[in-house]
Amino acid sequence: MYSSLHTRSNAHVDPVPSRARNGKRKIHRSRSVASDVQSVGVPVAVDGDVPSTLGLGRNVMRAAGFTGNVGQTLIVPRSDGPTLIAFGIGERARLDAATLRDAAAAFARAAEQHEHVATALPESDAVSPAEAAQALVEGAVLGRYRYRPLKRSDDERELLELDVVSGGRQGDEVDAGIERAAATTRAVELARDLANAPGMLLSARKMGEIAAAVAADSGLGCEVFDEHTLAELGCGGTLGVNAGSIEPPRMVRLTYRPENAQGEPIEPVGHVSLVGKGIMYDSGGISLKPNDLVHATMKVDMSGAASILAAMSTLSALGCKSAVTGYLMCTDNMPSGSAMKMGDVLTIRGGTTVEVLNTDAEGRLVMADALVLSTEQTPKPDAIVDIATLTGACQRALGTATAGVLGNDQALIDQVKRAAERTDERVWQLPLDRRLRKELDSEMADLKNVGGENAGAITAALFLDEFVGGVPWAHIDIAGTAQIEADDLWRSKGATGFGTRLLIDFLTNFTPPRQADAASAE
Ligand code: BES
Ligand code: MN
Ligand code: ZN
Repeated sequence: MYSSLHTRSNAHVDPVPSRARNGKRKIHRSRSVASDVQSVGVPVAVDGDVPSTLGLGRNVMRAAGFTGNVGQTLIVPRSDGPTLIAFGIGERARLDAATLRDAAAAFARAAEQHEHVATALPESDAVSPAEAAQALVEGAVLGRYRYRPLKRSDDERELLELDVVSGGRQGDEVDAGIERAAATTRAVELARDLANAPGMLLSARKMGEIAAAVAADSGLGCEVFDEHTLAELGCGGTLGVNAGSIEPPRMVRLTYRPENAQGEPIEPVGHVSLVGKGIMYDSGGISLKPNDLVHATMKVDMSGAASILAAMSTLSALGCKSAVTGYLMCTDNMPSGSAMKMGDVLTIRGGTTVEVLNTDAEGRLVMADALVLSTEQTPKPDAIVDIATLTGACQRALGTATAGVLGNDQALIDQVKRAAERTDERVWQLPLDRRLRKELDSEMADLKNVGGENAGAITAALFLDEFVGGVPWAHIDIAGTAQIEADDLWRSKGATGFGTRLLIDFLTNFTPPRQADAASAE
């Protein structure tokens, strides 16, 4: 087959190099700077004293253009000892986790030639030592991320060793923050690798294999469903989208169930079902996308599925108390003689029929199957959260730093918002305006797969709403945030892994929303 022949020249390439590297990076707390450290980060606020280690006064630094604002760095070369890198942390009184993460990313990038770096942990009244250490490490590691497996040489060095220099006060807390960051950054690197991997290296089949390997390493249950099983399950949305592809689809179901220290199952704090869009490449199908560079990046259209796999891989290590099931809906969306046509009618799992009036609105079709499967679990999940690069309209509305969130349950949406705030993976709620629902009415079928030309992010969510059966549900549209054209603090250029840290935080703090309602009503 042509596809396998032209892919074979890359057979040696591992699409997810961060997995092989895992564990090799050392991140430690230290009381002083080790002798083989190549550069040392020195946090400098816009106010207060400049640390004496720099040997520079504020006026000298200002003259060099450094005022201490977040994102600024100033390299101070020395004839012996490690290079010092001053990095801005803004106003000391406002030093929160998001600021620290951003500041550390700028520092780590300024040290791009160095494999072993150290940085002081700034003191702050606004965040705990654990949160501060976590944010600092997250910023440094994520700021240095690059997808390298297809490059023969690279001018930048990998970050192999990171020392967090901290006076020894509250050392256990600092260690806990570092440990948590080691887990979250590993997860984000996995999500970024998966999304950065070109379509030719990462088919739905390969995604299934990687998911199974990740699950085995991280204590998750994993079942991979092929096209035959999907047909038996009646997943007509997924099969319809896959119809034009030479590559078969895969649905991955991941399960996490909490255990005690002895490895015995414990009663979970509720059950969350996650659904991720895994379009390995979105060409638009018969409604072919135009030939421009934006669409050259449609390999990231599986970022939702990647963020779920990555987030779930940390749950056991982080001791998540809730049960979690994750559905990854994987296929590419291609045009061909066998592709679904405009006007075709697909039958989603559960029997709802959908008239396809734009084959480029494919994400909602694969998501619909999994949303129905989510509601069919016994007992029903307490919440469904889906994450998808769903609409260009959401990107137009909110830009590339903020994802959209919509849903049918405010208490659940509020939990997503809080996780977004804590992780600085920002979301903004859009209204699930049911007055727009009639735009999805079809003459031929129960629904059509596109609404009118306005409010595309909302009509897409209203489509999904048809399949959640009234279970508390939140939908996160990451079309704008899944990738970025240039480095921006912790988001390195390319796939951002957006949603991974948000989901980790959400899941490890989850309370069933109906229970939360009942508790607050008392
Ligand atoms: N994968 C795209 C959405 C997207 C756009 C993701 C930009 C990342 C960046 C999705 O499948 C799509 O094509 N959506 C259409 C929907 C339309 C046909 C109703 C869109 O947004 O144009
Ligand atoms: Mn599309
Ligand atoms: Zn898509």
